[in-house]
Amino acid sequence: MQPKEKRRILITSALPYINGIKHLGNLAGSQLPADVYARFQRLRGHEVLYICATDEHGTPAELAAQDMGISTQAYCDRYHEIQKELGEGFALSFDWFGRSSSDENKALTQHFAHALEANGLIEERTSKQVYSVDDGRFLPDRYVEGTCPHCGYEKARGDQCDNCGRLLDPVDLKNPYSAVSGGTNIEIRDTKHLFLLQSKMQGEIRNWVEASTDWPQLARSIALKWLDEGLRDRAITRDLSWGVPVTRPDGSVRPGFEDKVFYVWFDAPIEYIAATQEWASAADGDWESWWRTDQGAADVEYVQFMGKDNVAFHTVSFPVTIFGSGEDWKTVDKLKAFNWVTWYGGKFSTSNKRGIFMDAALELLPADYWRWYLMANAPEGSDAGFTLEGFQAAINSDLANVLGNFVNRITKYTVSKFDGALPAAGTPGDDEAWMAAELKKSLAEISAHYEAMEFRKAAAETRALWAAGNEYLTRAEPWVKYKSDVDAAAIGVRTGLNLVALFAIVAQPLIPNTAKTILDTLGVPNENRNWPSPDDDNLLDALPHGLPITAPPVLFQKIEDAMVEEWTEQFGGEPIEA
Ligand code: MF3
Ligand code: ZN
Repeated sequence: MQPKEKRRILITSALPYINGIKHLGNLAGSQLPADVYARFQRLRGHEVLYICATDEHGTPAELAAQDMGISTQAYCDRYHEIQKELGEGFALSFDWFGRSSSDENKALTQHFAHALEANGLIEERTSKQVYSVDDGRFLPDRYVEGTCPHCGYEKARGDQCDNCGRLLDPVDLKNPYSAVSGGTNIEIRDTKHLFLLQSKMQGEIRNWVEASTDWPQLARSIALKWLDEGLRDRAITRDLSWGVPVTRPDGSVRPGFEDKVFYVWFDAPIEYIAATQEWASAADGDWESWWRTDQGAADVEYVQFMGKDNVAFHTVSFPVTIFGSGEDWKTVDKLKAFNWVTWYGGKFSTSNKRGIFMDAALELLPADYWRWYLMANAPEGSDAGFTLEGFQAAINSDLANVLGNFVNRITKYTVSKFDGALPAAGTPGDDEAWMAAELKKSLAEISAHYEAMEFRKAAAETRALWAAGNEYLTRAEPWVKYKSDVDAAAIGVRTGLNLVALFAIVAQPLIPNTAKTILDTLGVPNENRNWPSPDDDNLLDALPHGLPITAPPVLFQKIEDAMVEEWTEQFGGEPIEA
């Protein structure tokens, strides 16, 4: 279908932290739905730019590099490549997968800080911070541990006590020690930082959030909750060496900030823009037309995807940066937030070997299997538990039985009874009219769910359409009719083959690789793979009569009980007790 109006849609998914490999829950809550949405909108004929990057600054990356005995730069180089390749493995169709450590992001982060300061929104303040003499460095709050002043728990983290749940100030811990080295030589030292005066922006941010009626409910309610608590000024620099240097407008290092960098959460969202600049220089694109409302971006629809813990940063902190600059930047129009995917109700954990991570997943099964299950069970209304049993049931029934068998049955039958050519004979009757009506209804519903970014519902309706196809074959019974009336069988086969193509076309956002296999086998040209219009009356007779038909290879392998047992052993399957 030619859309009435070609929209320009900018899509970003929360930038994965550089350290380590992400688990299936991380994937399901940001990059995967963003990809599905990007694919859907491209199929609709819209102009889409899907941007992501690795979030490379901060202490965890430094410490991970130190553990491996390599430089932080080398560590980030390595993990950026790994994450990029895993993204490709999962068929994530980024237009650009950048790096927050890029020169573009350094320059832009510094630019924003200068603009904010010129507008009176940045102030130098001195605060007290934990310094570890043994490590020779200031420690971020969570890397100092000690005895909780409230409950006496001995392993309380500086930011929060895991025993009594209270939020802490590391300065209040008794017997503090460094979680990095265990060193007890801890001092409280004065340190100077830049503070972003968020409190001054409270009114402006609230007005904007309240006017953002297009945001799905979860994002909106989280944003309003933060605003109700009141915006607090926050430090946007840290005592670290790995990060964006703090400069003056002339480019020189800001005096007193020689050993400091910007806080990772200050520069990371700016990388959405900077990554678009990276893309523009590599692909000869025009980044301003996506981000500068004074240069063409006013008509861009900007959609963000993220886990719920990221919402405050995207609805409050980053907008303070953007609005506070006083410049004409594009802000988010729709913000889709997700709850958690749990591993059998508990946490994914590398150290406890619980849960499947992106690298392991691709060694077990092709990307489409995971994509399907994760989106069919997207953590939208509430957290969603990943279980191998649920995964097995979904794959075996939805993909192998409902879709896979349909495709196999009808293509094989064409090969054996119709000389491997799409039959031209026969005229549509009641069964075909029924199917056409189902199809029309389904197509409209699937589109509406994608537009609303309701991924569970979109997957459910996609499966319902496949199921309707099976029901159609049961009604039309070409194999029975063949015995008495070959032409009556032919219409069933022709309709069935057109359904195969349609099922693959609408499945492209969710299972792009399998969809491609099916469409390639049928020889459907690329320009005919766009999202079908429910108003097209020819959908069930679109493939050329006489088209040579071969059966595709087996599309989905069933997951046997023995595999589930083995994986349970390997990845842990028992629900953990709270
Ligand atoms: N790395 C963060 C996380 O995984 C997300 C950063 S999103 C951005 O929670 F806004 F900073 F880009
Ligand atoms: Zn406590």
